[in-house]
Amino acid sequence: MAQQVRGIIAPSKGQPVRMETITVPDPGPGEAVVQVQACGVCHTDLHYREGGINDEFPFLLGHEAAGVVESVGDGVTEVAPGDFVILNWRAVCGQCRACSRGRPWYCFNTHNAAQKMTLEDGTELSPALGIGAFADKTLVAAGQCTKVDPAASPAAAGLLGCGVMAGLGAAINTGNVGRGDSVAVIGCGGVGAAAVLGSRLAGAARIIAIDLDERKLETARKLGATHTVHAKDTDVVEAVREHTGGFGADVVIEAVGRPETYEQAFYARDLAGTVVLVGVPTPEMRLELPLLDVFGRGGSLKSSWYGDCLPSRDFPMLIDLYLQGRLDLDAFVTETIPLDGVEAAFEKMHHGDVLRSVVVL
Ligand SMILES: NC(=O)c1ccc[n+]([C@@H]2O[C@H](COP(=O)([O-])OP(=O)(O)OC[C@H]3O[C@@H](n4cnc5c(N)ncnc54)[C@H](O)[C@@H]3O)[C@@H](O)[C@H]2O)c1
Ligand SMILES: [Zn+2]
Ligand SMILES: [Zn+2]
Repeated sequence: MAQQVRGIIAPSKGQPVRMETITVPDPGPGEAVVQVQACGVCHTDLHYREGGINDEFPFLLGHEAAGVVESVGDGVTEVAPGDFVILNWRAVCGQCRACSRGRPWYCFNTHNAAQKMTLEDGTELSPALGIGAFADKTLVAAGQCTKVDPAASPAAAGLLGCGVMAGLGAAINTGNVGRGDSVAVIGCGGVGAAAVLGSRLAGAARIIAIDLDERKLETARKLGATHTVHAKDTDVVEAVREHTGGFGADVVIEAVGRPETYEQAFYARDLAGTVVLVGVPTPEMRLELPLLDVFGRGGSLKSSWYGDCLPSRDFPMLIDLYLQGRLDLDAFVTETIPLDGVEAAFEKMHHGDVLRSVVVL
């Protein structure tokens, strides 16, 4: 039987979000209904509300979530009712060209639930990133559920579902940070702070955190930054060179998503170094660089989608490290809030007051 639960909806462009009763259908073939236990508030939820992603209002927001599988549809074998899972927004297909070449983290055909969740009047909802987890329960493709050790706190575990995974993966997977490397991270919000943590986990010897907000630099220090640079009125490129013996960093991670910070990243790396763009630019942004510098400086310029993660490989491993005390995911949970606290959390995010507000149900 379809169920009625509470959910947080973005009704139309720029309007405040609100709580509504939503209808969650029983899972069909390949689908699962998950009882949500925690869901972080991410910038992308705000982008949806602002109409910055697409116009398919109303949205059911929330996508950084963990919970317990309640029921599964026909043919689902990877998870079962009672499993503690983190929801992912890239359920790989296993069949596209990327998957068949053994690079499923680039899957070009990720999938979501086929059925729609609706408002009481039957209006179909667009779940944010195919998840929609600011709700007591949500319907997803079973492949979006990644089983992890239930000993983990749901608030911390859920964060791996988006921003924290993107930052960790930007360092570990995309940037391939290794023992002894120097790393600079530009922008230390939730994503950049996770890149700092990921760099430490990978054994980086020098981690330079760069931000305009002293509070973010302080968190970055706690998570492993060996040097911090306040970007206001500072030549960021020079500062990174100073902290790396005049060379520049082996890997520079751009976690803001702007042309000017990308340019800093480009020049703040050592010759033959790597730039990782994990910040997401907007469509009108343009980058201009001397092509000769692109050639002459060598190395690689990469982008990191979702930290190039493979949820089935990375989530259980990272949760194990968390449970061993080697990955401080709790440090990202600035506050826990009730389901109706999302609009206020957007405001705090806007002012840079939080790394993450997490809805706990
Ligand atoms: N690639 C992915 O899969 C993925 C996933 C999630 C989020 N993101 C993107 O990552 C970016 C960061 O997300 P977040 O949640 O950490 O956001 P956030 O707003 O919490 O953090 C951004 C940080 O950048 C700092 N900043 C802004 N301008 C700066 C400048 N000129 N120099 C130095 N620091 C500056 C801000 O002070 C802030 O601390 C966003 O663009 C977001 O859309 C990407
Ligand atoms: Zn695929
Ligand atoms: Zn997100």
